[in-house]
Amino acid sequence: MPHHDLIVIGAGPGGYVAAIRAAQLGKNVACIEKEPLLGGTCLRVGCIPSKALLESSHLYEQATHGWVDRGIGVSKVQLDLAAMQTHKQQVVNTLGGGIDGLFKKHKVIRYTGHASFDGPGRVIVKGSDGEQELTTDNVLIATGSSVTSLPGIDIDEDRIVSSTGALSFNEVPKHLIVIGAGYIGLEMGTVWRRLGAQVTVLEYLDRILPGMDAQVAKEAQKIFTKQGLKFRLGCRVAGVSVNRKGCEVQIDGQDSLQGDRVLVSVGRRPNTTGLNLESIDVVTSDRGFITVDEHFETLQPGVFAIGDVIGGAMLAHKAEEEGIACVERLYTGYGHVNHDNIPGVCYTDPEIATVGKSEEALKEEGRAYRKGQFPFMANGRARASGHMEGFVKILADEQTDRVLGVHIIGAHAGELIAECASAMEFGASSEDIARCCHAHPTLAETVKEAALAVDGRAIHF
Ligand code: NAI
Repeated sequence: MPHHDLIVIGAGPGGYVAAIRAAQLGKNVACIEKEPLLGGTCLRVGCIPSKALLESSHLYEQATHGWVDRGIGVSKVQLDLAAMQTHKQQVVNTLGGGIDGLFKKHKVIRYTGHASFDGPGRVIVKGSDGEQELTTDNVLIATGSSVTSLPGIDIDEDRIVSSTGALSFNEVPKHLIVIGAGYIGLEMGTVWRRLGAQVTVLEYLDRILPGMDAQVAKEAQKIFTKQGLKFRLGCRVAGVSVNRKGCEVQIDGQDSLQGDRVLVSVGRRPNTTGLNLESIDVVTSDRGFITVDEHFETLQPGVFAIGDVIGGAMLAHKAEEEGIACVERLYTGYGHVNHDNIPGVCYTDPEIATVGKSEEALKEEGRAYRKGQFPFMANGRARASGHMEGFVKILADEQTDRVLGVHIIGAHAGELIAECASAMEFGASSEDIARCCHAHPTLAETVKEAALAVDGRAIHF
């Protein structure tokens, strides 16, 4: 019976990165994944394919509307959706193959099949060619999460889709109804609006992007509305039925809404089904998340869990950090994740990026802060490239000036936030960021100016 130092269950961004790190530390590591392609939801049906479609649809929209005032005329722009989908799939397949290559390079042994526990230290892999039993010193559960739906809504991935179906439409919907104005709803709504769909977003709350800084979310709604997304807030969806004309969405206390496709993007739930956790001492919370201590260890010694399956922000990079910290702590004695400093990015246009505390969170804590804000329209590079929407907002402690949160809505916000996350990790003050030389002309100067604005001394605004 094969024996390993560590078995990682799940080859998403949390699991495969942890497996490689453990192998770098000299361990005999196996990774069990049920899907033929490594990379998890993020690579197969999440972050990566959605970014491929976001990039392609952005180019299409620009080519159809965007360049006339720059002196570039383009005629007869055509959409070849099949080619766009092929490009997306090629990106996914290439990156998946890359992880295979990395496993080989680091001698991580891959098993294809569904993993389940058979008591402490024993794991069974059920694959297409039968069952195999493995023994191990340690196990890391990195099984991720799956889409959730609402009562009265059956996702069929045809008319009523999750993000998976919405990534693979083979025709542009006439009217796409999106339930939930979170990350997935806004990113996928943006893709299909750009390609020609009418898009209506129904949101239960009275705002979009819950949890994000409210000022940024308000600005985002204003910009997306101008782009053509229709929002109906405070809508409780009661059900969806499929009829000859398409789909009808029933909304509590309001007229129902007719569309031809419906995207359900109301969150995700942890994947623990079929793991046979009952055979070991692992407990889950009311919402199904695996309970772990600060070192990602469950009640069962030697069994760890990281990523979406333990809750918190359901983000690929959060899972990666946890995977690395978990195995480093296990094999070197030290490993840590600063959960207060995990950036989040919504890849709409403009992008929205955030790290640290929102103004609402600081107010709730009763923490005194100062705020510096700088608009992209006052930045030379933003003007030259025609990306003038949005702003950078920096929140710093009133007494110490330590940066507590940065919120950006604007072009390349997802790249700009990296500087802010690094600065915050080093405990920077807004003065520290303001005193760093930023190249001119760059969008990054908006971050420096927002830092200057904390002290009321932005130069260009
Ligand atoms: P989400 O939690 O971001 O948003 C779900 C939205 O649905 C919320 O605004 C919620 O108020 C709303 N909602 C819930 N019940 C509703 C109802 N009955 N009627 C109308 N609205 C309702 O979830 P989402 O967008 O499905 O994303 C799932 C996870 O995937 C999130 O944790 C997100 O962080 C992650 N993700 C991250 C991305 C990124 O980093 N760019 C991209 C896509 C997903």
